[in-house]
Amino acid sequence: MWFFFSPNIIHGPDALDFFENISGEKCFIITDKNLVKLGYVKILTDKLDSLGKKYVIFDDVLPDPREEGVTKAREECLKFEPEIIIALGGGSVMDTAKTTWALYEFPELTLDDIHAFRSDLYEMGKRAKLVAIPTTSGTGAETTYVTVISRYEQEIWKKFLYLHRGLIPTFAIIDPIFPQGMPPRLTADTGFDALAHSIEGLGTLWRNEWSNALALKAIELIFKYLPIAYKDGQNKEARDQMHQAATMAGLAFGNGNVHIGHTLGHSWGALYHTPHGRSVGIVLKYVTQFILNGPESGDVIKIYAKLAKQLGWVDWNENDNAAAKKVIEKIEELAKQVDFTLNLKDTLKGTSITKEIFEKDLDTLLDLCYQDASSVLTPRGPSPDEFKKIFLYAYEGRDIDF
Ligand SMILES: [Fe+2]
Repeated sequence: MWFFFSPNIIHGPDALDFFENISGEKCFIITDKNLVKLGYVKILTDKLDSLGKKYVIFDDVLPDPREEGVTKAREECLKFEPEIIIALGGGSVMDTAKTTWALYEFPELTLDDIHAFRSDLYEMGKRAKLVAIPTTSGTGAETTYVTVISRYEQEIWKKFLYLHRGLIPTFAIIDPIFPQGMPPRLTADTGFDALAHSIEGLGTLWRNEWSNALALKAIELIFKYLPIAYKDGQNKEARDQMHQAATMAGLAFGNGNVHIGHTLGHSWGALYHTPHGRSVGIVLKYVTQFILNGPESGDVIKIYAKLAKQLGWVDWNENDNAAAKKVIEKIEELAKQVDFTLNLKDTLKGTSITKEIFEKDLDTLLDLCYQDASSVLTPRGPSPDEFKKIFLYAYEGRDIDF
């Protein structure tokens, strides 16, 4: 049985106006303090004011949201009893909002009760609708049913996945007014997250024609518009197209999944607190090389060769191996255009983490990889030694030769 789940998507300039069509008066806004400070929450509340809707703002979401944050949001939500929950922000806000929504709909549940095998969670939406409004163009979390929440265990903040298709927001409002203010660095990091979703999504074992179609279009848009959005953040067309691309990439990986790029990226990010998009964006090149090098990778070579041909990166009569390798070259080319490093060691500049510390940490990084469910659908599974070698090569920026 295959599936394609999606929120109702409203996109383009003035998409926010769609609130006039969403029934319900009481809105519980989940966001973070930075977005309040930057004035983005005001854009939303001005709209709600103009429609006569009432709201309270929960702005305590932190990066890499923790279980305590979800518990706090749920308590306030239960107190206010909203008809609409609004998530305004990036991935951390979305993850907090989706889990809060589930625990509001089903107050008897705890976080660990949220898993894929509960049929009751398909009944989400009886108490409130969830409206997801992304302010960055990358995570795709406004479209997906997966959340990542951290819990402190064995002296480390571990990231846990809580997922169920019922967690997909009711509406995703993809209005380019919100990502317009993203600084260049964040634009590049989040853009590479969207690229990782699409390129990993094309290779995952759950790939299907629906996810493939969206991944392909997202890749085309990212290559065209990310350099423009990076250099000229006020370019409305580039912001709009990148915002849509990130949502398409979200639908691609939401319905096809990602694989070991996200496994390695999650582990690196958990240990060294590198932003998600930067971690997964860096390792994307190396895991793609690793997959293309595999003896069993014939199908994936064909997929990436087709991608290079469909996007006009090589001639249609180019041999598949050479065409697939072009994808790596194009990732490197895009990284250069947006000053995005492709070495993990660059992410540790200015920290106390030396190469010796990183090498000692490899066992911890490996443990974290094995605790991360996203590796399950990889078309080529690394051995423990290969996981460590990919980290070592990506650290140095060395091409994968195994
Ligand atoms: Fe991601």
